[in-house]
Amino acid sequence: MPSYDRPFIDSLPKAELHLHIEGTLEPELKLELARRNGVDIGQSTVEQVRDTYQFTDLTSFLAVYYPAMEVLVTEQDFHDLTMDYFRRAAADGVVRAEIFFDPQAHTSRGIPFSTVIDGLWSAVEEAQSLGVDAALIMCFLRDHSAESAKETLEASLPYRDRIVGVGLDSDERGNPPEKFAEIFAAAKEAGYRLTMHCDIDQEQSITNIATVLHQIGVERIDHGTNILENPDLVAEAKERGIGFTCCPLSNSFVTEQMKGEEITTLLRQGLKVSIASDDPSYFGGYVGDNIEALATAQQLTRAEVVQLARNSLEISWAAPERVRGWVGELEEIAAR
Ligand code: ADE
Ligand code: ZN
Repeated sequence: MPSYDRPFIDSLPKAELHLHIEGTLEPELKLELARRNGVDIGQSTVEQVRDTYQFTDLTSFLAVYYPAMEVLVTEQDFHDLTMDYFRRAAADGVVRAEIFFDPQAHTSRGIPFSTVIDGLWSAVEEAQSLGVDAALIMCFLRDHSAESAKETLEASLPYRDRIVGVGLDSDERGNPPEKFAEIFAAAKEAGYRLTMHCDIDQEQSITNIATVLHQIGVERIDHGTNILENPDLVAEAKERGIGFTCCPLSNSFVTEQMKGEEITTLLRQGLKVSIASDDPSYFGGYVGDNIEALATAQQLTRAEVVQLARNSLEISWAAPERVRGWVGELEEIAAR
């Protein structure tokens, strides 16, 4: 029996750093937006929507994920989606949320970049009233061309002050990080912070992890537990304080297991591992559920659960004085 419970996990101030806002689209809101916008999604009940959630790997997940975005049309839709997420995050003790969005998944359907970012941004501002300090990370879709990523980067520049960093997501197969090396260099030049997905058990996982560390120069890796295949890279990531955003429930959907042992090994070796929820509406849980699932499966100690929350705050891109304040609160709670 661990010496902590779910209310303790929820009470810890934490940052959620790996959350695709489009992956928070719950079946109820999907149906409401489909009605609102007159989009025929082919399902009319929550159960029918859930029945479409049949996936065994990243590719089959993405084949369900992108078509669902059709219901997101207006600025209000993006706002409502994002506020629903912030309310859930606040209940889980999230004080800082750096949320991914995929502009190309919308602009490729004819939705203007401005509609997406204006809807997200009004929610980011409103989130302050919930006690959530929020920020936006723009992801490029790696299965689209480098040219498309370049156009997206250019489209983002008028909104530079609303976007803290850039990431890379979607299907990793055949789309290695170096395809986007120039774009990431340009993004860094424009002042964006850098992170990238290195998804679990990909054909070239360890090669891609080496590339993001050596060629791209990211500060964080999203997922990335395959780094354990190369102890030299583990040592280097530790030395450089590279952040890892791990998503146990997501892992258990797109691979055979939640990779709890790998996540825990990295944590116990002193790497900056944090826990996040990826696409919670599809993978069955928000950040508190992810921490609880990992803690239960791996029998994490109370101190380790606190360390996960501390890591998330320390590797966040929030203002340093805010991070210091949250870590102080965390220490007070942990000492009780
Ligand atoms: N887009 C949304 N979720 C993703 C994931 N887990 N990996 C890559 N791209 C994604
Ligand atoms: Zn992800």
